[in-house]
Amino acid sequence: MATSQTSPPIPPKYLQEDDLSEECKKFLSTLPKEKAWIGSYMYNYQGFWVADRIIQGVIACQQQFQAHDSDIILVTNPKSGTTWLKSLLFALVNRKKHSIFEQNHPLLVKNSHDLVPFLEHRIYGDDHDRNYSSFTLPRLFSTHLPFTSLPKSVQDTSTKIVYLCRNPRDSFISLWHFTNSLRLHYKDTNSIEEMFDLFCRGMSPYGPFWNHVLDYWKQSIEKPNKVHFFMYEEIKAQPKLQLKRLAEFLECPFSLEEENCGVVDEILRMCSFENLSNLEVNKNGKSSLSEAEYKLFFRKGKVGDWKNHFTKEMSEKLNHVIEQQFQGSGLRFSYI
Ligand code: A3P
Repeated sequence: MATSQTSPPIPPKYLQEDDLSEECKKFLSTLPKEKAWIGSYMYNYQGFWVADRIIQGVIACQQQFQAHDSDIILVTNPKSGTTWLKSLLFALVNRKKHSIFEQNHPLLVKNSHDLVPFLEHRIYGDDHDRNYSSFTLPRLFSTHLPFTSLPKSVQDTSTKIVYLCRNPRDSFISLWHFTNSLRLHYKDTNSIEEMFDLFCRGMSPYGPFWNHVLDYWKQSIEKPNKVHFFMYEEIKAQPKLQLKRLAEFLECPFSLEEENCGVVDEILRMCSFENLSNLEVNKNGKSSLSEAEYKLFFRKGKVGDWKNHFTKEMSEKLNHVIEQQFQGSGLRFSYI
């Protein structure tokens, strides 16, 4: 008698691990490895932790990406507010081309990850335009790469870098929720204790978290015209001021007329959590490259959610790590 067998569902692209070249697999076997937050393993490459699915894209962009002087690159540790800042940057830089009051503004129909691509995520795509030649200037990109691992041309040109940092306590909670949501395909989630231990030991995607932050922080002090460093919490607290500072750094300050017409307020409203998370594309769409659902990029968007999850011991442990790692840097993370 024939038995009916159902084959297991095909995992989404962000969980597929079999598209690595033999050369890449051989290279990975030489690197230190650790349990990954989403897939099976992450590897220590050039001093930071990166998932096996991403590493081919990292190497490709390091070897091939040619920056232009006018490029703008947004850099973040994962879950620091990348989606938000991509939206703000896109709206800000393209406001002459796409009036923020336009009925069919690109941000109303596309997720910002489709408007501002990650340099290292090209591995998922059909790499036909590795040099992004079809992009209009100034080109906007993003990356999670640490400063010392950026493609060389980014450092050799006048490319501007915008670095967004977030309180590590909230970044950790956001990362834990996000990666567990992506793992749901396996019906298997990671415990907060286990991932907290990895995070504190520096083993998070693109981490150690503190090395990532500190390298860009130092660059922003040494080269303030090249690297603009700011915090998620600062944008939350003083959105108008921070957006205006960003516009000045990018040499596209708001005119008095724009301010009087409400352009600054409208950009902030358009890019607010409430507005973006309620758009059809962000409620029901997913990335064609990674197949991740866009709604996962909008969870709470609040400052201080870590307090709803941390035990007293976790809080003390991370305080200690933060104190040790950021001591003497001048960087402070509020405890609220
Ligand atoms: P939470 O998980 O704490 O809610 P990233 O874009 O780097 O992946 O970061 C995602 C985090 O930014 C999530 O944090 C998400 O809710 C928050 N976020 C997304 N869009 C936002 C917005 N428009 N304003 C504020 N926070 C936003």
